[in-house]
This record gives sequence, C-alpha cells and structure tokens, in this order.
Amino acid sequence: MERIIENLHTAVMVLDEGLRLRYINPAGEILFAASAQRFVGLPIQELIFDDELVEALAQVIETNSPFTERELVLNLGFDHRVTVDLTALPLQEDGGGAGLLVEMKQQDRHLRISREEGLLAQGNATRALVRGLAHEIKNPLGGLRGAAQLLERELHNEELKEYTNIIISEADRLQSLMNQMLGPNTLPRQQVLSIHEPLERVRQVVAAELSEKIRIKRDYDPSIPEIHADMGQLIQALMNLVRNAAQAVGEEGEITLRTRSMRRYTIGTVQHKLVVRVDVIDNGPGISEEMRESLFLPMITGRAEGTGLGLPIAQSMVNLNGGLIEWESQPGKTVFTVLLPVVA
Ligand SMILES: Nc1ncnc2c1ncn2[C@@H]1O[C@H](COP(=O)(O)OP(=O)(O)OP(=O)(O)O)[C@@H](O)[C@H]1O
Ligand SMILES: [Mg+2]
Repeated sequence: MERIIENLHTAVMVLDEGLRLRYINPAGEILFAASAQRFVGLPIQELIFDDELVEALAQVIETNSPFTERELVLNLGFDHRVTVDLTALPLQEDGGGAGLLVEMKQQDRHLRISREEGLLAQGNATRALVRGLAHEIKNPLGGLRGAAQLLERELHNEELKEYTNIIISEADRLQSLMNQMLGPNTLPRQQVLSIHEPLERVRQVVAAELSEKIRIKRDYDPSIPEIHADMGQLIQALMNLVRNAAQAVGEEGEITLRTRSMRRYTIGTVQHKLVVRVDVIDNGPGISEEMRESLFLPMITGRAEGTGLGLPIAQSMVNLNGGLIEWESQPGKTVFTVLLPVVA
C-alpha cells in the first residue's frame, strides 16, 4: 500500500484531528516544495496560507463529511501558487481518533512545463542570434581600432589625436560589450559545491554595495544537497539576479535569499530525481507589463543605465549547468528562481 501511495502523481497528505501533518507522499513534497522530514508534525497552516481552506478542512473533521473543490488556487507562500483539484476525506480511526486524508491533483503542471520549454527555446534562439551578431561586429571592430591606432601615429596635432582616442576607446567599449554578449567561451568547470557557497559570496558583495537600509534575509535549507556546477558561472548568474533585486527595491527594501531542494522535479522537459532551488525574492514594484515578454532577451532594459544583459547572461550561465531560471512577479513580490539539477 505504502509503495503505491509513494509512487502516485497525486499529492496525498494525512492530517490528524488537530490539522497537523502526519504524512505526505513524495508528490506532495514536490507540490509544496517541502521535505516531509521538516514538515511532518507541523500544523497545516505552516504549509498552506489560506484561512478559508484551513477552515474547510476543519469542517470535514467536525461534520465527518468530505470536501471537494476543483481548480482551487493554493497559496503556498513566497508567491508560490498552484492550481489543484482537492479532495478531503474524513478518516475515522479504530481507536476513535479522527483525521483527514487530503488528495491534491495539480492542474497547472503542463502549463509550467510548456512555459519552461518556451524559456529554454527562447534562450537558445537568442544565444544563436547574439553570438552571430557579436561575431560579425567584433571582426570589423578590430580593423577599425587598428586603423585608428595607425592614424594616431601619423598625427602630429594633439587636438586631432583626441578624435582617434575617441574611436579607440569607443571601439574598446563595444568590444567588451560584445565579449559580454558572447558569454563565456570556456566549457563549465564543474566542481562539487553547495549552492550556499556562491550565494554567500554574492550576498557579501552586494551587501557591501548596498545602502544599509536594504536588508538581505537568508532562509537557507541547511540540508541542501551538493551539486556539480561551475562556481564562477553561478556567482555571475546569482550576482545579476541579486543586483536586479537590489535595484528594484530602491532605498528601503528587503531581499530574501531562499534555498530548497525538491524531489522528482521537471526542468524544461527533463525530470530530475533531485533539484536544488534558489529563490531571490524582493519586495520591489514588480516586473513592469512591457518587460514581461522580453525579460530574457538581450539589450532589453527598463533602467536608464542598464545594458539589459544581466538576465540573458544569468539564464545562459544557469543553462550551461543544466538548469533554468524561472520567475514570477507582482507588485511587492518578485521571485527569480534558479533551478539546478543534482546529478548523483
Ligand atoms: N527584481 C526585479 N524587479 C523588477 N524589475 C526587474 C527585476 N529584475 C529585472 N527587472 C527588469 O528587467 C530588466 C532587465 O534586467 P537585466 O538584468 O537583464 O538588465 P538591466 O538590469 O537593465 O541591466 P544590467 O543588468 O545589464 O545592468 C531590468 O531593467 C528591469 O526593468
Ligand atoms: Mg541587471
């Protein structure tokens, strides 16, 4: 029996009469992005942030009659919302104790997966385009710079050299921009690491840059499994996300760095046994409407001094390590999520 329940795609929870979690199957852990070890014994209010639903569950025990709701939007905290069909059945135990069996079938999984496929495909298409373009620009740029240098040597009038200097320094600026757009030209140098290592590095760097009014909170899962990844690339990716968050919250804001692990989680089209997840959460104004469609396209920026390369570069670094960056945003809460597979 237990084997069957463990392998169901439907999330199953057993609650006791005080609505404390007694059991949750692996599908349930995935749904709640929580591990059974940490949550068994806790009241259900710690998992579901929905007073109405909690009340409905209490009613099931009180009236000893089942409760069903279709397309219920579950608020699991931290902007984590899922749509489920939920059924709660009263459990009458022999000894007289009462409890609840809660069954939840997720409805938006296919939506999430097709969206992630979209993000991955968009990333690949952009990378190809940008690489081609940057390559075409770099070659003539080198010629231009060389010619300006030759010209500079021939010039004896200092005032005119000012112009060749502009050509050279602008060519250099463009060159470094192109290099950034081309991204790393080395394969990832993967090592075994805890995601907390790059995350802590980034936190310290950004905290030093920030006004003291901005707080960076940590909500780390101490038992997070190690991953195989390129330290430098993860630092770069996380740095871009945390800097964006810092720019979004303005002078007085709050950023939360949260880590969790999830079992049997699908990234794009590949299902992984274990996935590590980092959420960079900020309480800024949210992603504006006109940015939403093109967030990960290069050169798309909502800031006057932005280059619009932060997110596409971060996405590409995470992709190189087998992962994906997802996001969700509403005014007051924006979450960028880095998903990375744990390869045994
Ligand atoms: N946490 C966030 N909250 C609100 N808007 C965001 C957030 N992160 C990104 N954005 C929006 O997405 C845009 C693109 O971000 P991206 O990091 O790619 O470029 P940038 O920050 O503008 O420039 P760069 O990172 O190259 O300096 C930003 O300009 C901003 O409008
Ligand atoms: Mg940025």
